[in-house]
Amino acid sequence: MKSFAENYGPYALVTGASLGIGRDMARLLHAKGVKIVLTGRNLERLKALENELPGSIAIAADLTKEDDLQALFKQIDQIDIGLVVVNAGFGSAGYLADQNDQEARDMLKLNCEVSLRLAMWTGRRLLPQKRGGIVFLSSILAMQGTATQANYSATKAYVQNLAEALAIEWQPSGVSVLCASPGPVATGFADRAQLSPMDSDDSSVVAKEIVEAIGKKSLVVPGRKGRFLTFMLSTAPRALRVKIMAGIMRDKLKK
Ligand SMILES: NC(=O)c1ccc[n+]([C@@H]2O[C@H](COP(=O)([O-])OP(=O)(O)OC[C@H]3O[C@@H](n4cnc5c(N)ncnc54)[C@H](OP(=O)(O)O)[C@@H]3O)[C@@H](O)[C@H]2O)c1
Repeated sequence: MKSFAENYGPYALVTGASLGIGRDMARLLHAKGVKIVLTGRNLERLKALENELPGSIAIAADLTKEDDLQALFKQIDQIDIGLVVVNAGFGSAGYLADQNDQEARDMLKLNCEVSLRLAMWTGRRLLPQKRGGIVFLSSILAMQGTATQANYSATKAYVQNLAEALAIEWQPSGVSVLCASPGPVATGFADRAQLSPMDSDDSSVVAKEIVEAIGKKSLVVPGRKGRFLTFMLSTAPRALRVKIMAGIMRDKLKK
């Protein structure tokens, strides 16, 4: 049987590796013997992680910018990547009509289009090799439309559906597809989304559960709080879930 590094190495690409769940996943994958291509916008943070994880490569890129995305594809075309972690993403809270137009379109580009393009790149690279995998970061908010998170919850529904479908399409090839759908996690996410702090799962715990599920499951809800919320919501019909989540998230808007 192949080791983790033989199946998913020698390199893994982790988007959004400068902070939060992505940074924790990069550390855990490196501990499994895989070198990491670290990407995000903040070069200083990426360089610090590159120093911490020998053999890694830091590539600064704003993935909402087409030129940066093209440059990243050009660089990863030259690297033997066996695992792609599609993690970079962001949300923003408030009523859709009040949102900034550019930010709303950037969210669609980063959370959806970049996921699609990395999925196509991964399929074309790894399906002929019959090994490796891809991990997508969805969210508990993917499971129903969520008022005050309308754009974000819709982008994560896209990610969830894309991942679930690819897990079936790619299964015969041996390329694994994992969709991780956390609940609230303590990272920079809530701050950027302008949400009040909430009772959250620890990022390193969530990252560990995701990494441990690679190659073993196609869906994972990491973190105890995420699992509890998912279980509670799963007992309600969809229309009721939409109302419950609207109430929960409205409460989290920064006053
Ligand atoms: N935290 C939660 O409660 C939660 C719950 C469910 C799902 N998720 C999902 O988990 C993933 C990771 O989020 P997180 O919680 O770890 O958030 P985070 O701490 O804010 O980290 C987000 C990462 O994405 C990168 N990023 C943001 N905008 C980018 C851009 N335009 N181009 C390239 N990279 C960009 C950031 O790096 P730079 O700032 O350096 O660009 C950072 O490394 C996201 O997809 C998020 O939707 C989070």
